[in-house]
Amino acid sequence: MRTLTEPFKIKMVEPLRVTTEEYRSVALKNAGYNPFLLRSSDVFIDLLTDSGTGAMSDEQWAGMMVGDESYAGAKSWEHLEAVVKELTGMAYILPTHQGRAAERILYGILGGKGKVFISNTHFDTTRANIEFTGATAIDIVYEEAKDPEIDLPFKGNIDLEKLQQLIIEHGRENVAAVIITVTNNSSGGQPVSMANVQSIRKICDNYHIPLVVDGCRIAENSYFIKHREEGYINTPSEDIAKQMLRLGDAFIMSAKKDGLVNMGGLLTMKDEALSVKCKNLLIISEGFTTYGGLSGRDMEALAIGLKEVFDEDYLHYRIRSTAYLGEKLKEKGVPVVWPIGGHAVYIDAKKLYNKIPINEYPGQALVCDLYIKGGIRCVEIGSLMFGKYDDHGKLIPATNELVRLAIPRRVYTQSHIDYVLDIFNDILEMREQKKGYRITYEPPFLRHFTARLEKIA
Ligand code: F0G
Repeated sequence: MRTLTEPFKIKMVEPLRVTTEEYRSVALKNAGYNPFLLRSSDVFIDLLTDSGTGAMSDEQWAGMMVGDESYAGAKSWEHLEAVVKELTGMAYILPTHQGRAAERILYGILGGKGKVFISNTHFDTTRANIEFTGATAIDIVYEEAKDPEIDLPFKGNIDLEKLQQLIIEHGRENVAAVIITVTNNSSGGQPVSMANVQSIRKICDNYHIPLVVDGCRIAENSYFIKHREEGYINTPSEDIAKQMLRLGDAFIMSAKKDGLVNMGGLLTMKDEALSVKCKNLLIISEGFTTYGGLSGRDMEALAIGLKEVFDEDYLHYRIRSTAYLGEKLKEKGVPVVWPIGGHAVYIDAKKLYNKIPINEYPGQALVCDLYIKGGIRCVEIGSLMFGKYDDHGKLIPATNELVRLAIPRRVYTQSHIDYVLDIFNDILEMREQKKGYRITYEPPFLRHFTARLEKIA
């Protein structure tokens, strides 16, 4: 196979500051061993998230210059609305400032005490917005897919049997919606097949339950369908996305991912009555219906990004470059969630640092080592993020101790990724270490963002 190359050249550069290991040790100590509290200027390769961290194209920047900043009926809104209508086939399009604003509006209306939402996996903000209304969020990714090593093409699929059972158990009138997250961020960025969504549609039709597509990575998911699901190899990825979105009743998108912009969100739906309720909430919280939380230039850039993202050369590079990092790590003997998903590589830190006890946060130890050794910033998705305490203050660990290396879109070159791979040679030499970290401060909610830790001597 030929060398994978970036299908773009660089027109503007942002310098990266090179720091020493000694400098980074002090910076991390001052940040309470929590990379969320680091200054980005102290980070060399930032793999904290793929959300809002991408680089826009020259066409998008040119679009920024013609953004129409009129309060109502802006030309940039007309452009965005037309692109999103064509993509989704839905009649009602609402702009929001980011994904969670769309979630708050839609789930605020559909949710409430006694209601149940069922999803492959609810993303944290999705779950938080649902639980905030008093409703319950249930995850039902199918059983086999929970094995981090099993090689299956669509590990984001919903368990259809469980879906039927849950609907019967809770009563169809209490199921507020089924939400299909594509790709499934919380379980490794794994894709969902078209066949799975078609079956979910049928079940939703039988029980008259709305189907919501949480599609912030819909283009990446479409690429996986094109290359993994029978019958799609000759279908353009954009058409695959159109087919999938036409199966939904509503669509929520954090445009900070596959919208190829730094800020933005969308909420779209087929039902007029629902759209009227959503518009009322939009106006009192986000802004008028023709800008939501966005400026005209943001909407212009998003309208262009939503077309660019379906370029097959871009998508091939995107998926293959993420896989390149994951496959090379696996070759080195680093345990990774398999197969590699679309936007990130997930490392099994419990396996890699198997001498560090779970209550000393092996995932956080890996996150800290990657920063000190290489200036690489990433996030623990394990017991620091999801751990709870029992009545005696003993840690109830998370299911897995993962570390996510999320890849910003069109930002880093292959040599940056090769550098990350180099740093893992140092990490592999540290796998015998036995001591991790203890928490010295934690807030009551979402503790990973602001917790402070210290190294156990
Ligand atoms: N849904 C999914 C599947 C997401 O991954 C995210 C954000 C959201 C909704 C919320 O969107 O951030 O625009 O409000 N995921 C980011 C991440 C934060 O790092 O994975 P938002």
